Amino acid sequence: MKVTVIGGGGRVGACAAFALQCGGLVSEIQLLDANQATAQGEALDLLHGAALCADQKIYAGDYAAASNSDVFLITAGLRRKPDESRLDLINRNVSLFQQILADIKAAGFKKDAIVFVVSNPVDILTQLAVRELGLPWQQVVGLGTMLDSSRFSSLIAQELSLATSQVKALILGEHGDSMVPIWSSASVNGLPLTGLPQMSSGMQTKLFDRTRGSGAEVISKKGGAGWAVAISIREVIHAILLDKQCILPVSSLQQGAYGVKNVCYSIPTVIGRKGVLDQIEIALWPREKLGLQNSARALQETFSKIQ
Ligand code: 2OP
Repeated sequence: MKVTVIGGGGRVGACAAFALQCGGLVSEIQLLDANQATAQGEALDLLHGAALCADQKIYAGDYAAASNSDVFLITAGLRRKPDESRLDLINRNVSLFQQILADIKAAGFKKDAIVFVVSNPVDILTQLAVRELGLPWQQVVGLGTMLDSSRFSSLIAQELSLATSQVKALILGEHGDSMVPIWSSASVNGLPLTGLPQMSSGMQTKLFDRTRGSGAEVISKKGGAGWAVAISIREVIHAILLDKQCILPVSSLQQGAYGVKNVCYSIPTVIGRKGVLDQIEIALWPREKLGLQNSARALQETFSKIQ
């Protein structure tokens, strides 16, 4: 399977390419960036390690060379400043993103191609891609709250000294300020996390607040995310590649679950080679469902301001 990383010269794109190389499953990785020299440099640096990694083609290219991609991974975009919300980025990134979509369309793409959006504000840009590319909505996926859910699970495990791989805690809704912690299904090896004696409501608030602020925290310390977002990206791409039909908290155009339509945000979503196979309206606590509907309203209001 061929993945073209649009923004491959940037931190997120290059880390994602490295994660895919280490994962060893995709057969071809093309890096594409407005800064061609940087894309070529990242591709060369990755190629140098290929002999110790996997049998993959890794190179820098252009939109014409990208037209046979199975997955267009779009990470290009300006990073927000620590005090900026992801929605603040909207004006700066929308026009850049629309140009990327136009370039993809002009060069052409396979009818079964998947467009995988990471650029922020990811939910808004995912909906823009659905509107402007003309692909079936199921073939456009946004990273959504995959990274938030990984951060949430990892921070809980660290705080409670649990085995990280056993902690499964979801964040749903907007990848942004209105994201929603789903304590109702949070578990450690199948045991409800809220049943642990240490898990007071104060602890829950502390852990969620840290998760929600993690993007800004990473930006303030190192300028922007790279490793965890790359691993989150790889999880989705491998689900597509292997047609895993696994349930992931990713962003896609809502079809009515929780009474929400015509907005992209994250609910439990079945992902396979054809993209979105199903959206699952899992039972939630009333306040969690209200949180999702609040997320949807915030995103619909923002999307309505886009030309
Ligand atoms: C983050 O939360 C990049 O939006 C991503 O770090």
